[in-house]
Amino acid sequence: MSAHDTAERQYTLDRELQAYISECRGKEHSESFLISVLHKVQARYGYLSQEHMQEVAELLGVPASTVSGVATFYHFFRLQPQGKYKVSFCLGTACYVKGAPAIIDAFKEELGIDVGETTKDGLFSLEITRCLGVCGLAPVVMINETVHGKLTPASIPALIAGIRKKEEAG
Ligand code: FES
Repeated sequence: MSAHDTAERQYTLDRELQAYISECRGKEHSESFLISVLHKVQARYGYLSQEHMQEVAELLGVPASTVSGVATFYHFFRLQPQGKYKVSFCLGTACYVKGAPAIIDAFKEELGIDVGETTKDGLFSLEITRCLGVCGLAPVVMINETVHGKLTPASIPALIAGIRKKEEAG
């Protein structure tokens, strides 16, 4: 890229984020701010697009491979837009010991996606969350604003089918 191209570069990240990244770049060990920058980008846009990750790399002065490496390593970063139904798995202690990992596996199997992904029809996305404060109902899954408690892996297909049916009915 020539100096001229650099001067012409138009970023799609909003001005506030660009200003924050410039501020980080001016500090010592600017690359150590990468996770914080990615959190802010995700909070603003809901996920980390390829374009935004490229812009973060340029603005922060770190290799694009480092940005995508960090974004894919941490499960709390999303690389796709969220689904209409955001399924959040509680992995707090109570839910974990009461079988949350098996619940997560049941959703993954039923939907054919991994945590951090969105189904092709844009309906479901999966993510991990912290304790939701309703440990007595463990294991708990929140789907948008609704809490589903005392789940078993066997109950998951019917739960998903119920949502799909509701969607089809419009
Ligand atoms: S540990 Fe899951 S709701 Fe508290």
